[in-house]
Amino acid sequence: MNPRARPDRSLPFPPPEACALDADPRFLALLERLPDPTLLLDGETVRYANPAARSQAGLPADDPHPELQLDALFDGASAQRVRQALDNGSKGDGWTALDRLRLRRLDETWISRDGELVAIPGASGPALMTLRAAVAEQSAPVVAAARRALAESSLRAVEAQERERARLSRELHDQIGQSLSAAALRLSLLLQRHAIPDDDPQAMALSSILDDVLQQTRSLSLQLRPPQLDDFGLASALRSLLQRLFADTGIHYDIEIEGSRDMPANRVSVAAYRIIQECLTNVLRHARAAALRVELRADSIGLVLTVVDDGAGFDAERVDSERLGLRGMRERAEALGGQLVVHSRAGIGTRVRAFLPWSPLHAASQTERA
Ligand SMILES: Nc1ncnc2c1ncn2[C@@H]1O[C@H](COP(=O)(O)OP(=O)(O)OP(=O)(O)O)[C@@H](O)[C@H]1O
Ligand SMILES: [Mg+2]
Repeated sequence: MNPRARPDRSLPFPPPEACALDADPRFLALLERLPDPTLLLDGETVRYANPAARSQAGLPADDPHPELQLDALFDGASAQRVRQALDNGSKGDGWTALDRLRLRRLDETWISRDGELVAIPGASGPALMTLRAAVAEQSAPVVAAARRALAESSLRAVEAQERERARLSRELHDQIGQSLSAAALRLSLLLQRHAIPDDDPQAMALSSILDDVLQQTRSLSLQLRPPQLDDFGLASALRSLLQRLFADTGIHYDIEIEGSRDMPANRVSVAAYRIIQECLTNVLRHARAAALRVELRADSIGLVLTVVDDGAGFDAERVDSERLGLRGMRERAEALGGQLVVHSRAGIGTRVRAFLPWSPLHAASQTERA
């Protein structure tokens, strides 16, 4: 049922000529218990405000009779609409919806409320007014909860992906890698047993194929989950990643680490590793840089990582939506309650900076750290 649907207003009894409802303790005891913020108006004057209304308007909690004028409680336009509704109320069926009234709290802050005014038809007597959070504000907690649920589910997806990568990496290393090594060993034994010379073209081709596949398997296993990350922590895994990617490329690289030398593998360090890995791959593929620098700073709130290059730069506002690298980095940071910012200028270079809080609780206290 629509909560704002117009109720049936036919009265089962004649309207009272005059009544002092604000002086009737039984009536006030009922209003006092209403969960909705409710005001009892007598013309322009607010004679009574129930506890929910006092809390909403920031009125003293222990004074149910504020004796406020409409102009003191609402802004000019809203007070005028209430006056109009009071006027119409006594003529029509007594019920008026008032969307988005601007309510002035006692501490001079403003809030927006949807009101409903009920007057007694045909009588110029008192009126009741309820004030509810405006529809947009009612939905704000729902939107916030949906955002939280989305971030949690994306975090779970990223963690499941990491577990799967680690499993595949182990399988590749322990199963396929070991079998290939055994095959290479057996090949050399076979060559010895049959006195086949080392430079036999078939033997050389077979041995070279086995070597290649073994190399590719190792490199794939490393990419999927570098063992250093689990065994020695983030700093060591990053150093070996830089070495693997940039040795012999002519690109000058350095890394500065503050406060995170022994960081073990956890959801933050794994995310940091993946983000930096994607940045470095981008530098190799797109930047044509002469130099790059990686910085890691850890403190009690979280980890700030930066990757800077002096390459070609690009327009970060106009990245093809098919591209997944930058989007994936941002999603990883946001899934942890952090953020990622890309600054890039053509001909100057690119800087990617991410802030990853240790816990989502710290995310709320962060102030634009990325
Ligand atoms: N360091 C950089 N220097 C110059 N251009 C960059 C840099 N990083 C990203 N770019 C540009 O931004 C684009 C988007 O990067 P993104 O990592 O999202 O996708 P990609 O690397 O092209 O593909 P993938 O989805 O495989 O990562 C790149 O295609 C490139 O044009
Ligand atoms: Mg990329």
